[in-house]
Amino acid sequence: MINEILALKKERHAIILAHNYQVPSVQDVADRIGDSLELSRAAASLDEDVIIFCGVDFMAETAAILSPQKTVVLPQRGAWCPMAHMITPEQLRELKELYPDAAVVCYVNSTAEIKAESDICCTSANGVQVVNSLKESQVIFVPDRNLAAYVARHTRKQIIPWDGYCYVHDNFTSNEIMAARALHPKAEVLVHPECRPEVIDRADFVYSTAGMARHVRSSAAREFIIGTEVGMIYRLVKENPGKAFFSLSESAICQNMKKTNLEDVLRALQTLETRVSVPEKIASKARRSIERMLAVKI
Ligand code: 13P
Ligand code: SF4
Repeated sequence: MINEILALKKERHAIILAHNYQVPSVQDVADRIGDSLELSRAAASLDEDVIIFCGVDFMAETAAILSPQKTVVLPQRGAWCPMAHMITPEQLRELKELYPDAAVVCYVNSTAEIKAESDICCTSANGVQVVNSLKESQVIFVPDRNLAAYVARHTRKQIIPWDGYCYVHDNFTSNEIMAARALHPKAEVLVHPECRPEVIDRADFVYSTAGMARHVRSSAAREFIIGTEVGMIYRLVKENPGKAFFSLSESAICQNMKKTNLEDVLRALQTLETRVSVPEKIASKARRSIERMLAVKI
């Protein structure tokens, strides 16, 4: 199957992008693996005509918005991010009416319609820098309440959060950190900013998934407790022989990130289905928010 995928990829002039949470066999066949920011940057600058996006709906949508002339394919139509659908455009418009002077920042884990209603996007890697780049002192931040709380701690601006959350990261508890530290006292604890504030308080470092990969490579520590989706551990183990990784919780599994398998990748290359596109009326506004984010230096 891998050989078929590689041959078809060449024939189609295609590239396979995969998020860090994808299953190992999909990570192994991908041309690029990364976090949401790295994959958005890649999608904006690729030469290939076809992007096979192994991740969830909003990621493929972001790629389609940035590269409307390309064929963007989500191998598993049913792979979606529940948090991205926790706010509707109507709800965001109502919030904007309540705070007419506020800038609107949307986490990239959002629908194209929400991006179109926002001033700028951010990811978990650049949320603080994006918010601090704005001239407004009041910022509506949607949809993740935990990332909003994390950003609020690192800015002087007033953050008005939406009450969305990622069920995978919101489930981690500070007791789990204490238990993991008791088992692995020498380990560094890395958590994602989608975790609750009390979990972040007990961690040593807070990073996006790409930030975790970078930190682990350069750290002198030999053991790490990882507070994010379990798929991340595969990449960390592969890239860091001799270092040991422990998941903060073995049940931290994003069902949607696990839906895509090698068969889906092959079928996607054969059929170019499910193709993701965003109507230009929405895409043109959403593109402004994403490109504005990509211009922020981190
Ligand atoms: P990053 O990979 O951007 O850190 O995001 C995590 C996530 O939950 C993506 O769905
Ligand atoms: Fe969405 Fe959480 Fe899954 Fe990421 S890990 S895709 S934020 S549900």
